[in-house]
Amino acid sequence: MIFLCDRQAKCFSYFSVDSFPLTVCISYLSVQQVKLGSPDYIDCNTEEVIEDFMKRIKCYENSYQPLDEVLDRDLSYIKIMDVGRRYLVNRVLDHIQSRIVYYLMNIHITPRSIYLCRHGESDLNVKGCIGGDSGLSGRGKEFSKCLGKFIQEQNIKDLKVWTSQMKRTIQTAEAVAVPYEQWKALNEIDAGVCEEMMYEEIQVHYPVEFSLRDQDKYRYRYPKGESYEDLVQRLEPVIMELERQENVLVICHQAVMRCLLAYFLDKSAEELPYLKCPLHTVLKLTPVAYGCKVESVWLNVEAVNTHRDRPENVDISRMPEEALFTVPAHQ
Ligand code: G3H
Repeated sequence: MIFLCDRQAKCFSYFSVDSFPLTVCISYLSVQQVKLGSPDYIDCNTEEVIEDFMKRIKCYENSYQPLDEVLDRDLSYIKIMDVGRRYLVNRVLDHIQSRIVYYLMNIHITPRSIYLCRHGESDLNVKGCIGGDSGLSGRGKEFSKCLGKFIQEQNIKDLKVWTSQMKRTIQTAEAVAVPYEQWKALNEIDAGVCEEMMYEEIQVHYPVEFSLRDQDKYRYRYPKGESYEDLVQRLEPVIMELERQENVLVICHQAVMRCLLAYFLDKSAEELPYLKCPLHTVLKLTPVAYGCKVESVWLNVEAVNTHRDRPENVDISRMPEEALFTVPAHQ
């Protein structure tokens, strides 16, 4: 029985190994699953990796000491045995600790992929407007059909499809011809008083707000609306459920897709609101050791560009041309 735990830590976890006969095979398997991709083992073959990592575990045994259920009964800890087959949770004292326990009990290492895409191009996208709840444009409908074909060709085992509650994601999923589940939490960022406006109109009516958003796009909250920071919070249950599930296609929106992508690719709050999530492009995320493999597939249907980069001048006193310099072309 091996426990790799730091006695000083308040709340911690380690994939530990229990029940010896089972241990060896599970342990070899998990070493293979998670260590082959480790930066420590670039250019090593499977046997070398396993041999070296088993030696490393031996060294850990010298430096760490097992938690004792009686002696350590006052400590807060979780033991995860056989990669999630069994858990031992001891003295969970506060909200953060219970969230950590919930998270650790929901993650898994079963090979799977998460497919992220936005809805097909909408009528409001074509006009260069943000927000609203419009239906798909002709090209948006075309994308939906191509998405259906793409998903069929991928031949994905037990695929779940999730949409928001907005017309454009539902219309997109309808063409995919797979049962889908609607999540309110996946709805696009609420732009409040700026809903259904073009960036040019926001600059005319709310120039100060427009520049404040450019100054701190992650934390800026639209009047009567949301910030990216709010959105990240709203998406927490979706992320938790994504961790629990296996293959999932999420048909969502630009700001929502940025948040999900930032979570899986470990991007900072500063990078998140500027991640590129073009229309009609599917991102296939495959969790691997220490990260996620990303494959980007453009489904060959033209669409407007809705990505606006941060302009150089974000000062409140800037000229309108400077504020609008990075607005993408539209109708
Ligand atoms: O407001 C809706 C957009 O999809 C989000 O775009 O945050 O880059 O302005 P933005």
